Amino acid sequence: MTDNEQDNRVEITPYQAAGGLEGLTKLVDEFYAQMDTLPEAQTIRNMHPKDLSTSRKKLTYFLSGWLSGPALFQQHYGPINIPGVHKRFPIGYEERDAWLLCMQRALAAQPYSDELKNYLLTSLSIPAERIRQVNAGEF
Ligand code: HEM
Repeated sequence: MTDNEQDNRVEITPYQAAGGLEGLTKLVDEFYAQMDTLPEAQTIRNMHPKDLSTSRKKLTYFLSGWLSGPALFQQHYGPINIPGVHKRFPIGYEERDAWLLCMQRALAAQPYSDELKNYLLTSLSIPAERIRQVNAGEF
């Protein structure tokens, strides 16, 4: 674009790019479907309750606010500290990678651009690594 051309592009939030609440619900449903079936994810699946409906809802609501959409998690459940809520689970490198693998597979099944898929996976790997570090007592 030259200096004389007007930039008419409208900035959208990652929440909107991910399809809003409907898109995030599909992503999280697929994420937990992957967790239910991938052998690599069996250990982390066993950390979750048998019925995943609340886990699904909480992750969907969390991602909404985290991606600059409505802060649904806080509205429904109050404040959250991601490393804090994971302290009671034994999460090391394998568990972190299994979680990210489920997310990578779930993202692959969405009608998102490669750019958005890469952005979301890279962004989510930061809190995932942070959870591992806190659980390992590294900070
Ligand atoms: C690093 C690997 C991770 C593992 C193994 C893991 C595992 C878990 C488990 C077992 C629960 C409890 C589920 C339940 O009781 O319903 C949970 C809750 C949750 N996780 Fe993770 N998680 C990981 C990473 C993440 C990341 C990266 C995020 C978000 C960026 C996230 C967001 C949440 C949320 C929002 C909850 C609900 C917390 C609550 O009950 O208040 N998790 N996770």
